[in-house]
Amino acid sequence: MNWIIGGIFGVVRSIMLFVVVTDGRYFGKRLTYWLYNRFGAAMFGSRSEAARWRQLAEALAWRGDETILDLGTAVGDLPLTLAALPDFSGFAVGLDWSPQMMTTAWQEAARRGVNGRTAFGVADAREPLPFHNDSFDIITCLGLLETLPHPNQILHEMVRILQPDGKLALSLYRGWSALGASLSLNWYQKQLQPLGFDLQIIELRRNHDIVIGQKIDD
Ligand SMILES: C[S@@+](CC[C@H](N)C(=O)[O-])C[C@H]1O[C@@H](n2cnc3c(N)ncnc32)[C@H](O)[C@@H]1O
Repeated sequence: MNWIIGGIFGVVRSIMLFVVVTDGRYFGKRLTYWLYNRFGAAMFGSRSEAARWRQLAEALAWRGDETILDLGTAVGDLPLTLAALPDFSGFAVGLDWSPQMMTTAWQEAARRGVNGRTAFGVADAREPLPFHNDSFDIITCLGLLETLPHPNQILHEMVRILQPDGKLALSLYRGWSALGASLSLNWYQKQLQPLGFDLQIIELRRNHDIVIGQKIDD
């Protein structure tokens, strides 16, 4: 009997993973978003990737006084980690579509004592971003852009709210991770180079690199 229940759980877990990884391509976005909202806090909150975010901050040559936006932040691990660094005097914002994950992020900010240096909000990246032009020094968007329709429009929206000398950090998948959804380096070059961005690649996770874009001086 136990093995039947275990088998059913295994199948359900695999289906959920498939729905999330293929991000609505087969079962529709509504199911993906329901899954993110219902299980995202447990999924993304179960472990911190603090070491990776510190490595990313170094690759961004960060000073520590920047205003940072993390779009598709899940439970805010990236902004929470950066805001907790001892030399941080800036402000880190996380946006996500999931209200449940944003509640978790606010709770975690209070728990870590960084709620004066962070803010979280529910927003849909497919809509115009709720910020003025030139609002951020750094914008990170990892694991999201490639899953949405019209990623070029969303990227341009990020550039609109980025300071003229600001930096972007975006996902570039390799290997099997690139099968579900991926934007190629060529795509990033086509979008960002005409806007004056210079691109650099750093490794983040297995099969998941980051494209760092920064405008080069004329
Ligand atoms: C694959 S996770 C990546 C989480 C985190 N950035 C990371 O790299 O660990 C994608 C995140 O984007 C969020 N998301 C999906 N569609 C979105 C949308 N249209 N607007 C804002 N956030 C969205 C999901 O709720 C989820 O937290």
